[in-house]
Amino acid sequence: MKCIIDTDPGADDVLALIMALNSPDLEILALTTVEGNARLEHTTANALRLLDYMGRTEIPVYSGESTPLEGEFHHAYEVHGDEGLTVRLPDTETKPAQGGAIDFIVDTALAMPGEVTLFALGPLTNVARALMRDERVKDAFERVYVMGGQGDGSGNVTPYAEFNIWDDPYAANVVFGSGTPVTLVGLNITRQTSIARNEEAWLTGDTPGEMLAAQVLESWFELDEAGHRSRFSMHDPVTIMAALRPDLIQTRAATLTVETDGERVGEIAADYESGGSVDVTVGVKSAEALAFMRGLLRG
Ligand code: RIB
Ligand code: CA
Repeated sequence: MKCIIDTDPGADDVLALIMALNSPDLEILALTTVEGNARLEHTTANALRLLDYMGRTEIPVYSGESTPLEGEFHHAYEVHGDEGLTVRLPDTETKPAQGGAIDFIVDTALAMPGEVTLFALGPLTNVARALMRDERVKDAFERVYVMGGQGDGSGNVTPYAEFNIWDDPYAANVVFGSGTPVTLVGLNITRQTSIARNEEAWLTGDTPGEMLAAQVLESWFELDEAGHRSRFSMHDPVTIMAALRPDLIQTRAATLTVETDGERVGEIAADYESGGSVDVTVGVKSAEALAFMRGLLRG
């Protein structure tokens, strides 16, 4: 499966990227970075450093948008740490590829119609800009897997909204309204695929991916000295898993609209009656999903 991964690394992005890099079923054409968890300079640096650490600098990183369709980005440094991570990856000499993320996404999707899967692990700004750049793009993606949305529960930034959607609600409306095939993985799913603090099975292993994942998890929990953080949700990793193991998820087609202002900004309303282009994930086989994701850390 040829793919592009749009990402704002971010602790859970890093685990998702390790799994994707280790998957024999993914041919990663590029990473594209977006501002979100951290400023674009940090998310891009984290992506470059991760690829170097994993020995995969043949994969290009294209830097994307640093402002949402409207307004400014809000970040989550308090969640993900200084510079967007709670671990300091070794520096790298590699630089972002020439050209921007939007052009790369558009040119690649149009060059290989129906072949490219796009994973969107951060705010949907880059994806929306690509869809807006050329109206053929909506029919060119094989599918877009989006981590986002409060699902059938409460949000994680406000009671109503999940971070990726909340940080650029206008972009989310563009993507969900474009007609491009989307699989949406929301908090209703990622909260069922979370691990507890000090869960041994995730802190062992001697491969580069396992050692880094353990460091990320341990330092993420330690960032919260008061111990309020009891579980780490596999938000971005399970979004990658949804494409690799569709047998582990259950979806329902829907038409989605996103609130763009006021107290409930970022809240997704799903109309399942009329179906639609977005397959909303409504169920997951949690134990099997977690076992599959843990296995991919090893490579
Ligand atoms: O709400 C969780 C999402 O927001 C994840 O993608 C996390 O990395 C942050 O981007
Ligand atoms: Ca993310």
